[in-house]
Amino acid sequence: MNGTAPRKKIRLGVLASGGGSNLQSIIDACNAGSLDAEIALVLSNNPEAGALARARDNAIPLECIDHRDFAQRSDFDRAVVDCLEDRGVELVVLAGFMRLISGAFLEKFPHRIMNIHPALLPAFPGLHVQRKALESGARFSGCTVHFVDEGMDTGPIIIQAVVPVLEQDTEDTLSARILEQEHRIYPRAIQLFAEGRIKVDGRRVQIEPPLPPCCGSLSNPVLG
Ligand code: GRF
Repeated sequence: MNGTAPRKKIRLGVLASGGGSNLQSIIDACNAGSLDAEIALVLSNNPEAGALARARDNAIPLECIDHRDFAQRSDFDRAVVDCLEDRGVELVVLAGFMRLISGAFLEKFPHRIMNIHPALLPAFPGLHVQRKALESGARFSGCTVHFVDEGMDTGPIIIQAVVPVLEQDTEDTLSARILEQEHRIYPRAIQLFAEGRIKVDGRRVQIEPPLPPCCGSLSNPVLG
């Protein structure tokens, strides 16, 4: 037989609470063949999430588990984990998921939950990060893909992209510049995982073979 066998696709569970533009970038990368992954499930805690509409439009299995229906956070987490396991999810991808992940959830997916954060961690964890970056007078900000641990945006850093902060920036203009880079690096980080190139050593992530230094354009270096 001629030709190469299709590469194995990892099964993703994407968790999103909002508009889902990062979800869309992952869908697009899967469709373009630049990401060896299949979205097995899109799950939201928010019935109004645009991410659910995007899943529906792309015929991706979706689930809404409203956290307000659960008295205990642990019960909500268990319901989410059950859903992910039922679908055979191998990597959990948080894409604007506005709930903290409990220890019990983390134990089910050790170093298999990624998040994207719109700042250069460890600077500016938490919420309202573009405002914090502007108020701080930082000349550069960016975005970070990291593994999730029990802290707030504290897990091992996988890959980052840098953007300038301009004099005339508002939260909206800075957010838009960062979001453009998020859409670039999240599918890329997931592909590194799919290729088995990511090793976690304590707080440090090693990519084997390493990414070239400052790959991407000089104005938007991607650091991995
Ligand atoms: C992104 O800025 C992401 O970094 C943050 O939440 C936002 C989600 O945006 N965690 P979207 O829903 O993917 O458009």
